[in-house]
Amino acid sequence: MISGLKKRRSKAARSIHAVRAAEYGPWLEAQEPVWRRWLADHDFAAKPGAWQTLPSENGAIESVLLCLGDEDDLWAWADLAASLPAHDYAVATKLDDAAATTAAIGWALGTYRFDGFRAQKKEAASAQLVLPTGADLDFMTAAAEAEFLGRDLINRPANDLGPTELATAARNLARRHKAECKVIVGDALLKANFPAVHTVGAGSPRTPALVDIRWGRPRDPKVTLVGKGVTFDTGGLTVKTEAWMRNMKKDMGGAATVLALAHLIMATGLRVRLRVLIPTVENSTSGSAYRPGDIVPTRKGLGIEVANCDAEGRVILADALTAAAEEKPELLIDVATLTGAARAALGPEIAAFFSSSDSLARELDEASHKSQDPLWRLPLWAGYRRRIESTVGDILNLAPNDTAGAITAALFLQEFVEGAEGWLHLDIFGWNDTARPGRPVGGEAAGLRALYRLLATRYPAA
Ligand code: BES
Ligand code: MN
Ligand code: ZN
Repeated sequence: MISGLKKRRSKAARSIHAVRAAEYGPWLEAQEPVWRRWLADHDFAAKPGAWQTLPSENGAIESVLLCLGDEDDLWAWADLAASLPAHDYAVATKLDDAAATTAAIGWALGTYRFDGFRAQKKEAASAQLVLPTGADLDFMTAAAEAEFLGRDLINRPANDLGPTELATAARNLARRHKAECKVIVGDALLKANFPAVHTVGAGSPRTPALVDIRWGRPRDPKVTLVGKGVTFDTGGLTVKTEAWMRNMKKDMGGAATVLALAHLIMATGLRVRLRVLIPTVENSTSGSAYRPGDIVPTRKGLGIEVANCDAEGRVILADALTAAAEEKPELLIDVATLTGAARAALGPEIAAFFSSSDSLARELDEASHKSQDPLWRLPLWAGYRRRIESTVGDILNLAPNDTAGAITAALFLQEFVEGAEGWLHLDIFGWNDTARPGRPVGGEAAGLRALYRLLATRYPAA
């Protein structure tokens, strides 16, 4: 069981009354004068996520009032889990099954901590929620595990998690689900025809790799996930400045997110033939590092002219996307902490996505809203394609004009997805830079819930 939740109801559990903010007035009317007075004296404002403990006649905490937003409100529950005093709590309001599951997932997310690297652990959350009636225990467990897996991988520092360790994490996940897993390491990348991954990885003593997981029945629709796995991005010979390098352990956030998504897909048994490809490298500086002006050979045969060694993500993704597209998947999804430009456009809370298909984009937009996992579409503006034309190679890895960087990066990737029926590209930040309920500062598997929802709608488990 995920910590912070329990299956069995205890007699002493305090009741949680979950009331939609819009229905607060009528709810209040129906309460005893003591609570009405108590709430008034606390200036309680019925906003989504607001909560208040409520007393018994002798002054003990008897119940908790929680205000929910209009939709299934994940974060209201997360805040409660992290804030309430140690005790058992049980939801007294009748929730429909989906809302009950959301409540349990939200609560679970509120208990997340990344404590493995400190000697002095912070106290674990001790408020316990009795699993609400109707909640899907298996789904909620898999969903919380997926989020935690994604966050843990991102949060692990680069001295602990390099390409080898990321590949090990992928292997462990595959083993858990009896999936096939092949890892191509170091010089074997050349023989297997992943020259771009090898080239970018050559600057670091940490050996680069390509992870290739396969799962599911051959006759189900093929869905391939590709995640950028740069375990640390110094910028390479185009070295980053201090402030820009500080958080670059998170540059494998795309890989973390697709592994988290793969866990959820496999745990819930979606009807897909899944493939996961993760090119993983450390982008480092050394005498063996690739250089500005180099022309990097690729699996597709195109030569990438390196304008900037810090635009490394698209270089390794080129080979992985080519390998993915060769099998003509019905859906190809890549997730990458690809550009600072996506951050400049949308800030840290909204991830950018791109698609060549309007209907696919609409599906993801809807899934994003419903799963409270904000994504916003940016255009694959073909007019900017000429900016990455190379004079000595086939394509530049960075446009000389530095505007619309997220778009030109997406256009670069588009060159390598030919063959896939549908393609979605997510340019994520992968990080919470301020703490919000259920989302402490640190790694975040942005897009995980939205992508899962899109896939579960298209390919429901039998
Ligand atoms: N991993 C970075 C992108 C990034 C930076 C994501 C900050 C999230 C936050 C990527 O490899 C990169 O370095 N991109 C550069 C490109 C540069 C050469 C113009 C960027 O966007 O700053
Ligand atoms: Mn970079
Ligand atoms: Zn990077």
